[in-house]
Amino acid sequence: MATERTTIHTLIQKKKDGEKIAAVTAYDYPFAEIADEAGMDIVLVGDSLGIVVQGEETTLPVTMDQMVYHTRLVSRAVKKALVVGDMPFLSYQAGIEDAVRNAGRFVQEGFAQAVKLEGGAGVLDQVSAISRAGIPVMGHLGLTPQSVHQMGGYKVQARSPAEGDKLLADARALEEAGVFAIILEGIPARLAKRATQSVSVPTIGIGAGPHCDGQVLVLHDLLGLFVKFSPKFVKRYANLREESLKALRHYRSEVLSGEFPTDQHSF
Ligand code: KIV
Repeated sequence: MATERTTIHTLIQKKKDGEKIAAVTAYDYPFAEIADEAGMDIVLVGDSLGIVVQGEETTLPVTMDQMVYHTRLVSRAVKKALVVGDMPFLSYQAGIEDAVRNAGRFVQEGFAQAVKLEGGAGVLDQVSAISRAGIPVMGHLGLTPQSVHQMGGYKVQARSPAEGDKLLADARALEEAGVFAIILEGIPARLAKRATQSVSVPTIGIGAGPHCDGQVLVLHDLLGLFVKFSPKFVKRYANLREESLKALRHYRSEVLSGEFPTDQHSF
């Protein structure tokens, strides 16, 4: 029997029922398959791709073609979770038509069920237009990595009362514009709690404390595959870089010594 797909309605219901939502990023077939099998509600094809897969300093160089390609790899593997494609820098900021066409590419070519974009008051028209085109949209407030230069680095956001009020207003405006969920990244836990109480759509936190309706982490951070830097909010559940290094060194030494391959691996 086919497994039932998680939808935006499942997620909204989870908030109503007080059930937490688990989300993770993935960028390719094998890890997306593992994330889905582990029971994730959402698999986000994040533009963090630029940093953890492509080795760039920021997410800014990531293109639409790259995102669509990786989203398709992920979609091929995921049977149950909601696949969300992350709209990269300049795929929606310049105007509504760009935003709708590019969101459409995630669905038509990447087989995603939803898209995500960063920002509040400045992207409400894009959110409404994409939504009106029948494509579910996830919002993203707080530390928005595509604005890294404007923020002056990857810093916790909305620490002052005025900035906190603006974030709450943005969250409500995004809900009004039609988002089905909002990522809250890099903000004080107390503010995330207030935002979570202020909207009826689920909030998914990353560096936003324990009071959000769900949590997302970058796969390579939580598996210990990306170790160049590790923000305070990351919990490492495995050390796959170490494990991989050990395995590859072992393999190399057996090749050099002639221990592998043996008759057992021969025809
Ligand atoms: O690009 C990404 O992976 C993200 C998550 C960190 C929320 O936007």
